[in-house]
Order: sequence, then C-alpha cells, then structure tokens
Amino acid sequence: MAQPTADAKNAGKPATLSIVDNRTGKQYELPIENDTIKAIDLRQIKVKDDDFGMMTYDPAYMNTAACKSSITFIDGDKGILQYRGYPIEQLAEKCSYLEVAYLLVNGELPTKDQNADWAKQITEHTFVHENLKKFMDGFHHDAHPMGMFVSALAALSTFYPSAKKIADPAERKLTIYRLIGKVPTLAAFAYRHSIGMPYVHPDNELDYASNFLSMMFKIAEPKYKPEPALAKALDVLFILHADHEQNCSTSAMRGVGSSKVDPFSAAAAAAAALYGPLHGGANEEVLRMLDHIGSINNIPGFIKDVKEGRGRLMGFGHRVYKNFDPRATIIKKLADQVFEVTGRNPKLDIALELEKIALQDEYFIKRKLYPNVDFYSGLIYQALKFPVDMFPVLFAIGRMSGWLSQWQEMLLDEDQKIARPRQVYLGREKRDVVMLSQRS
Ligand code: CMC
Repeated sequence: MAQPTADAKNAGKPATLSIVDNRTGKQYELPIENDTIKAIDLRQIKVKDDDFGMMTYDPAYMNTAACKSSITFIDGDKGILQYRGYPIEQLAEKCSYLEVAYLLVNGELPTKDQNADWAKQITEHTFVHENLKKFMDGFHHDAHPMGMFVSALAALSTFYPSAKKIADPAERKLTIYRLIGKVPTLAAFAYRHSIGMPYVHPDNELDYASNFLSMMFKIAEPKYKPEPALAKALDVLFILHADHEQNCSTSAMRGVGSSKVDPFSAAAAAAAALYGPLHGGANEEVLRMLDHIGSINNIPGFIKDVKEGRGRLMGFGHRVYKNFDPRATIIKKLADQVFEVTGRNPKLDIALELEKIALQDEYFIKRKLYPNVDFYSGLIYQALKFPVDMFPVLFAIGRMSGWLSQWQEMLLDEDQKIARPRQVYLGREKRDVVMLSQRS
C-alpha cells in the first residue's frame, strides 16, 4: 500500500469523511487517519436503533488494511519494495540473508557484533531432535516435500512446549532463533527422505545458504563445499523472498497467531498458505508450464489459450504490483550470474520469449500483468539442482524471517485482537427441523 500522504497535503482542512445515509438522511463525520477510516466507525450507521450497523464487504481483503505495520513498504504502481525503509535492490547487493532477517525482526541492520551473535545463535539452533527423523520417515516415499515441511513445522511445536509463552520476550527470541535456524534442516530432510538418502546434519562452519546446500546435496565427501557463486545466489533469493507485507501466508501467520497459539503452529499455517499454486506454489507451476510449452514455436498457441481463459500465464500478475515486480528484475540478473557457473538452462529461452510476447500483448498490457518473483526464480533453482517440488519449500525458508517479524509486530500491537472477520449472512431464515422419518 502507498504511504499515506493526503493528511499532510490537506493540512488545515478537517481530516474527516462525511457520509450521508440516503435511507435515513442522517449525516455522519468519520475521522480519517493515515488515509483510512476505521471500519468500526461505520457501525453507528443504522436505520433502526436495534440494527447491527453498517459494515464493509471486502472479500479477499482487496481494500482493507488489517494492521498498521513498520516492516515492509510496497508501492505496486511504481514497482518499489523496501524492508524497514531499505530498497530491496541495496539489501540484495550489500547484505547477507541473516543480516536482512535481523533487520526484519529487530527493525535495524545489525552492527558487526550483533550480526556475529545473531548468526551464532541461529547456527546453534539448526539441529533438530532425533525423533523428528522418525516423524519424517513416516511419510510416503513420494510425499510432496512441502507437505512434509508443513507437517514437520507443526510437529516442532510438540518438541518446544515453552514456545507457548508468547508474552515472554526471551522465549519469543529463542523461538525466532529456532525457527530461522531449523527451517533449512527440515527442508533438506524432506528432500533427502523423498530420494531415499540419509539425512545430513547441519555443518556449523558453513554460512546459512551453504549449510543448506550441504544438507541437501552432500554425499560421501567429508566436507561439502558449495560453489560460492551459487551459495550467494541462493542467499540473495532468500533475501528477495524474506517479506512481502500482508500477503496470503503472512496474513495466515498473523491470523492464526492472533489466537495466541505457539509460533511453530502459526508458522505451519503460514507455510500451508504458501503451498497454494496462486502463492508460493507458483514457481513450481512456472517450471511445469515451461515444460508443457516445450519449445518457442508453441508459445503463440499457449498465449492464445491463456487469453481465451484456458489456464494462466504462471509467474505473471500480482495483486499489488501493477508494474515490474522489483524482485523479478533482480532475479533476472542473478540468473545470468548463476548460468555462468552452471551453464544455461534451456528453458530460459522459452521464458524470455514468453515474457517478450506477453509484454507486447494487449491482454497483458491492459490488465497490467508483469513477471513476478516466481517467473525466473524456478529457473535458478533448477540450475542449482533443486527438484521442482522443492521450490515452494525454498520460498518458505526465506519467508520465515518475514512471518516471524510480522507475528511479533502483531503480538506487540495494542490495536490487535483475535482475528475474526464478519460475514454478510444470506442463508435461510429461522425454520424448524422436521424428523428424518417425515422428510420427503
Ligand atoms: N495469466 C493470465 N491472466 C491473468 C493472470 C495470469 N497470470 N493473472 C491475472 N490474470 C487476469 C485475470 O484473468 C483477470 O482478467 P479479467 O479481468 O478478464 O477477469 C485479471 O487479470 C485480474 O486478475 P485477478 O485474478 O483478479 O487478479 P488477482 O489480484 O486476484 O490475482 C494473482 C493475482 C497473482 C493470483 C494472479 O495474477 C495469478 O493467478 N497469477 C499467476 C500465479 C502467480 O504467478 N502467482 C505468484 C504471485 S507472486 C508470489 C507470491 O506472492 O506468492
């Protein structure tokens, strides 16, 4: 959402909204703050005294701010993304993922000492209880890694019952270390289970992304040494995915967390929301789509199908960005650096041509559909040798720091209560039950 400006511009004029209810002729003055009115202020608008009062109807929260937040700023029309005021382009260029995670959680970039302590704490919490392996072993051999990841996250809550003490800042801090530390381990274990390979323990001498690559791909070598350029690329991808204000999974984290459940359970709900093909599952769908298209010659036919409503161009379009997604621009450049090491992914040519055609096509121009973060990320993941069904899991690893920052902000926000939307009831009026024997 754009930063509110109107209050300042209209200095001297009353910051109120006048509403006339034409059903009654009554006029109401509602205060405006930050370019919003409080939905609850509408409840005074009634025809009869015993009416419930006016509400807003906003399916999918298209125009409802459910919180005040100081974490992430997006201007979807201008293609701007900032974490705590820092442009995503600068963070991707100058910081590590763990620095960015610290920024999101704590509000400021860490000093050298703070960063060293933060990285140490997270590294020391990468191990999982041995029993979690048994839990993983219970999954079918072809279980989707995201299904295993979601379940393993929820299972972690049973290993750390004290995480329920969400009002205790020390306990919250510990859980934040644990969750950011353990998600790469859970993700790698899910993958190793799916290919029938032994689990690899975390290597505390490696940085966050390199350790994850080691747990994923180490075989018999005493020490796994990832190509630094590839570990760096993965680290940048984690930064780009770290937060995106009130998206579907973050809203799930806040909504479920608002019941005051432990953060492992809330994070499992957030990860489940991310699994969907319209959210974090889209990067997986992009690769499947590129496979389905198969060759550049088939692109016009595919675009025609999309325009006629037979499927979507996955990795295109966004609820907020009506311009280039800045993350997609960074990822496109990153892809070149990765392909220099790994060799070019042949699907890149299909993706580039698809983007070119779509950006010139009236259907996509009119609807302001541009490539989003998922359009090119899958090609990099594939070049890094991640199987397609691991893509949403990779998204979840990076997003954990964002979910936790938003969860903590929600807990500390005095305006917040348990999330509980209203409905417009359009069902049957009260009626009496007829016994089964008498129903025709
Ligand atoms: N391909 C073809 N048409 C599309 C697409 C697309 N990818 N996205 C939107 N449209 C059309 C849609 O059919 C509709 O047309 P019409 O007005 O004629 O009915 C119009 O554009 C508006 O679409 P919408 O579904 O009302 O827009 P939304 O804001 O509800 O949906 C979206 C946003 C991301 C779910 C959607 O653009 C989409 O399904 N994209 C493909 C999936 C995807 O790439 N998702 C990843 C999002 S970025 C990562 C993340 O945040 O998780």
